[in-house]
Amino acid sequence: MPQIIDGKLISTQIKDELKEKVAKLKEEGKEITLAVIQVGNDPASTVYVGNKKKACEYIGINSLAYELPEETTEAQLLEIIDELNNNDMVNGILVQLPVPKHINEEKIIDAISPLKDVDGFHPQNVGKLSIGQKGFVSCTPAGVIQLLKRSNIDIDGKECVVVGRSNIVGKPMSVLLLQENATVTICHSHTADLKEVTKRADILIVAIGQPKFITSEYVKEGAVVIDVGIHRNENNKLCGDVDYDDVFDKVSAITPVPGGVGPMTIAMLMNNCVESAL
Ligand code: GUN
Repeated sequence: MPQIIDGKLISTQIKDELKEKVAKLKEEGKEITLAVIQVGNDPASTVYVGNKKKACEYIGINSLAYELPEETTEAQLLEIIDELNNNDMVNGILVQLPVPKHINEEKIIDAISPLKDVDGFHPQNVGKLSIGQKGFVSCTPAGVIQLLKRSNIDIDGKECVVVGRSNIVGKPMSVLLLQENATVTICHSHTADLKEVTKRADILIVAIGQPKFITSEYVKEGAVVIDVGIHRNENNKLCGDVDYDDVFDKVSAITPVPGGVGPMTIAMLMNNCVESAL
């Protein structure tokens, strides 16, 4: 029976640690405020934004919610971001992605002050991460590192394979693993023999956005498998990028979906919000 990595438990531990820090900051007269902007009403985004607001409340961070209509123009959104950048009461700014098609996502990310970019998406923060300077780190990959460390899974010297090369997960994930002294391989849709590469992994991190794509044929005996994906199957049940039941008997540790990586993303966002106030 493999170790089941409990992201819900670990994320609660992190949030409780942060709650204490926030209480201490309050005693010193420091309040933390996160501005959360949602444009339009994509149902998944509404759930994510709601969870972020709930986490703020739990920890003692003020959240300032902007629920903007689908028709909001790029100029209007940029103006709100500019106001928030210049508002000293606001520590963090988060624009929930995706934004509607008529808004240029890259322009929006670039407009957020790198000092308030708690998502870690701004090119300055991405650049800092790549050269090992302190800055905000993308929450999902930062959460994966915490999951591994807090589950006593050694990263140093391990063969780590990341499947997926997105700016939000795959790329920053590979940099963070490298910082932990792993040997890192990134695979993607053009990788010639994916199974051959993923089977080398001591730690396999999957973020490809395809339900149950990774079966036991892709996994080495005894590997640690981290599943970043989240999907709803035909029965409306949540599943990941990994076929959990199929790989279960082969792995030494695995994250479930739900209750694995998902809750960690929000915990790390809260961590970034606390950092933004220090
Ligand atoms: N959409 C999906 N994941 C994220 C995230 O981590 N941050 C933001 N802002 N939008 C998202």
